[in-house]
Amino acid sequence: ATAETSLSLISSLIANLPPLPQVPGTEPERAVLDSFRIAIAKFVVEALPSLTVEQVYNGVDYGKKGVDFTIALPRFRLGGKVDEHAKKVLDKFQPDDWIENVVHDKNFLHFTCRTPTLFRLILSQVHDLSQKSEYGTNTSGNGKKLVIEFSSPNIAKSFHVGHLRSTIIGAFLTNTYKANGWDVTSVNYLGDWGTQFGLIAVGFEKYGSEEELEKDAIKHLYDVYVKVNADAAENPDVKVQAASFFKRMEDGDESALVNWRKWRELSVQKYIGEYERLNVKFDHYIGESLVGKEWQDKALEKLTEMNLIDDHEGAKLVNLEKYKMGKAVLRKKDGTSIYLTRDIGGAIERYEKYKFDKMIYVVGAQQDLHLSQFFKILELMGFDWANRLEHVNFGMVLGMSTRKGTAVFLNEIIKEAASVMHDQMKKNEEKYKSVENPEEVSQEIGITGVKIQDMAAKRINNYNFNWDRMLSFEGDTGPYLQYAHVRLASLTRKNPELLPLPPPGQIDTSLLTEPSARDIAFLLGSYPDVVKTALKTHEPSGVVTFAFRLSHAISSAWETVIVKGESDIEKARARMWLYLCARDVLGAALRLLSIRPLERM
Ligand code: ARG
Repeated sequence: ATAETSLSLISSLIANLPPLPQVPGTEPERAVLDSFRIAIAKFVVEALPSLTVEQVYNGVDYGKKGVDFTIALPRFRLGGKVDEHAKKVLDKFQPDDWIENVVHDKNFLHFTCRTPTLFRLILSQVHDLSQKSEYGTNTSGNGKKLVIEFSSPNIAKSFHVGHLRSTIIGAFLTNTYKANGWDVTSVNYLGDWGTQFGLIAVGFEKYGSEEELEKDAIKHLYDVYVKVNADAAENPDVKVQAASFFKRMEDGDESALVNWRKWRELSVQKYIGEYERLNVKFDHYIGESLVGKEWQDKALEKLTEMNLIDDHEGAKLVNLEKYKMGKAVLRKKDGTSIYLTRDIGGAIERYEKYKFDKMIYVVGAQQDLHLSQFFKILELMGFDWANRLEHVNFGMVLGMSTRKGTAVFLNEIIKEAASVMHDQMKKNEEKYKSVENPEEVSQEIGITGVKIQDMAAKRINNYNFNWDRMLSFEGDTGPYLQYAHVRLASLTRKNPELLPLPPPGQIDTSLLTEPSARDIAFLLGSYPDVVKTALKTHEPSGVVTFAFRLSHAISSAWETVIVKGESDIEKARARMWLYLCARDVLGAALRLLSIRPLERM
């Protein structure tokens, strides 16, 4: 179906129900629970006309267990007695095809949606929008531009867990902004500049091998770096040579730049492949090396004018003590630039290029001070867009190591996840034999385990990296979610006699009578809200929680809401439809988290 026809299918279902007012910011044709909330607001306003539909709409919350929606009356500051207001609503209430019941309990009014309407609308909507991979999306960000920077490892240094977290959270945010209608440009800001490249250049003459470089640039450059660092620790000349080499690079000396350029290119090529295994893509690989001199110089000039620069034996420091952000070096004695200056120049260039409405930096909380310093400097320089910059930070990961020792490269992390998972799967021999491509599957589940563990709690929390826990099929883990998806996906393979399912309008959803079926449908309906909340909070944990709630709801339905063995074929089909919708929504939630849902395992 095309966009036109699917939207109009939902619209025409809605058009056959009691008419509802429009509320700004709602999109019933994408999130049909909006309509139920509007219906509730409409009832309340009919009884309490001093309120507006929009006001009440914003006060409609999800209810506790067994209740669809709840309103806390005191929030409307109506004056007088809550009981009297509640009574007015109850007296006036007429059940209709949207809302079937309201109950008063102390400060609250609890509403129940009409079950047949709920099933029909939610399942039709999931069905239609999933075909275009659009279920859960909204258009609130249309016309807005986001630039998001994440991952940003340093060439020739290790890829640490901080980079891994930035990659995982950054990919999630990229997907989330897109799902909320934003135009998103993702960039990887490589640490591809700085004195360490002087060191590597010196070290490469002694330890470098073109062959090793071609084989695995990331690893080879790291090895050279470790060796030359050891040399530098013993022989101060090495550092001097390195610094003068880097100075030549900064001055644009072509002979000093040829090797560096190749190292960078080969490392990027290698990274692209590894990110692809993580299901992560960047629109652009930029880096510290690409930041122009111009704005770095201007920043220094401007700050000098403003009397914010201290001279310390030739080095230039910006004094932000007034803002409780200490002092920070902007330029070294020998005139070479540093991390902070490049960030200032880089932000200005990105604004010139993209005119973004927002730019996000996904960087660990260890760099909180650094980010607030350069945001502050941009503000002091008078850029009115400085308030569009946002630092999305996160806590530390403790104890990530492989069985061979500490992991320093991304490919080691991926390999270890795959191999621990592979061992885990082999424990169940019978099942293992039925998997066609165990290597691939274990890598995918392994990566899912790493990602889910990383996103399960609030970003700012530190956590302990634990292979066994994250890769278990029991408990709230990545493998558990993949298993839940596979089980749903297997329904079509296991019940070919029910296929093809009739078109949505001909499936009899009134045959779905079990409370656990209703729970599933309601959860499916709430997914568009999960996507909106993720944008507000920048927290993947809400989406992870949703995926687990949905998986648990499905797993408690399997026993009673059976498909295989149900003799009433129409009933079996209605149930199958429900489960296939659940598969689509669980799949959408996993994809939002940058996970590739599996069809078989
Ligand atoms: N390459 C840096 C590091 O590994 C992270 C870069 C963060 N982004 C930025 N714009 N400073 O520590």
